[in-house]
Formats: sequence, C-alpha cells, structure tokens
Amino acid sequence: MPEHLTIVRHPLVQHKLSIMRDKRTSTGEFRQLLREISQLLAYEVTRDLEMTTRAIETPMCEMDAPVLKGKKLALISILRAGNGLLDGVLELIPSARVGYIGLYRDEATLQPVQYYYKVPEGLDDRLVIALDPMLATGNSSVAAIDLLKASGARNIRFLCLLAAPEGVQRMQEAHPDVPIVTAALDERLNEKGYIMPGLGDAGDRMFGTK
Ligand code: URA
Repeated sequence: MPEHLTIVRHPLVQHKLSIMRDKRTSTGEFRQLLREISQLLAYEVTRDLEMTTRAIETPMCEMDAPVLKGKKLALISILRAGNGLLDGVLELIPSARVGYIGLYRDEATLQPVQYYYKVPEGLDDRLVIALDPMLATGNSSVAAIDLLKASGARNIRFLCLLAAPEGVQRMQEAHPDVPIVTAALDERLNEKGYIMPGLGDAGDRMFGTK
C-alpha cells in the first residue's frame, strides 16, 4: 500500500457516512452503519495482502488455490471507539488476532493518557491494523503507533472513518511508514479538537453515552 493516505470514495461508503454524520441518526443505526462501513474499509486496507497458494482438491480436480500468506494479522482497537470498527472488521477477518490500547484524551491538553495495553505476541511478523474511527489531532494515534512499534510491529496500517488534515499531517511527520485508510478527509479541527464537520463524539454516538 504505497499511498500515505487513501480515501475510500466508494458510493456505499459515502452514503453510509452521510447518514452517520446526521445528528438525528439513532445510536442503533449509527452502530449498524459503522459495522457495515468498517467492512468496506477493511476490504480496502487489506486489498494488497501478500498471497501464496495451497494445494487443495475440489470435487473436480486438484488445484493450487490462492490463500493469504504469513501469520494471522493483528487488529488493534484503540479504546473505546476503536471497538466500533473492530466488530465489523472481525466479521470479515475472523481469524485475526486482537489487541487493545486504552488511551483517553485529556480534554485540557488534548494529550493521550494510557490506561490499558494488551497486544498479541509476534507483532514483528504480522500485518498490524490499528483501528480508531476519528483521526483528529493525531496525538492518540501517534502514541498508539509508538507503543506498537515499541512492541516490535514493523508493518502497520491505520484504519479510521474520518480524518482531519491536522491529524494526517501529524501522522505523516511521526510515522510516514504507516498508511492511513479513511472514508473522508474533513475540513479542520475546532478549538476543542473535534473534527469539522465531523460526526461528533464517535464513542458517544456508538455507545449512546454523553
Ligand atoms: N474524537 C471524536 O470522537 N470526534 C472528534 O470529532 C474528534 C475526536
């Protein structure tokens, strides 16, 4: 995946995203749409996975059939909103290993504070896909990737639903080797670090908290 930023402009993705942005969309609908959209984004972020072949027998004859190469990939949910993407991606890649990084944003400094970290072993041999719906300031994303690299991960991709130019730039500076896949690149951040026009707080929207 050579591009640093891939925007998935597929009509289904864009249509679903517009419904998610609408403030009248209910928690249940939002969660269902996030599940659907995350599968379409997962399709894109995995489109160039390495393949090999395996000798199998169909009911008709033998063949060398294409299969994914290498160790199972690792999905890393950046809590808590990452879990909204994780559910859908896991439906598409059920054998993936799963890790969690707990970071919350200090609302005063907008800096990430770590409270949980548990990731699969052997990250150095796996494709690692970090999941966080909102790439806003990029502070927590950069911190999460720092932690993954410290655990040995060398082949990392970042999957989000919405990105702000500020977050993309921050990631590009800190981790130029980590491609980002998103459904949209929005205009800017507001003074509180929220993406504009965005969709509000992704965690609150998907879990019905406020
Ligand atoms: N996190 C969110 O949930 N929404 C934003 O707009 C920015 C960060």
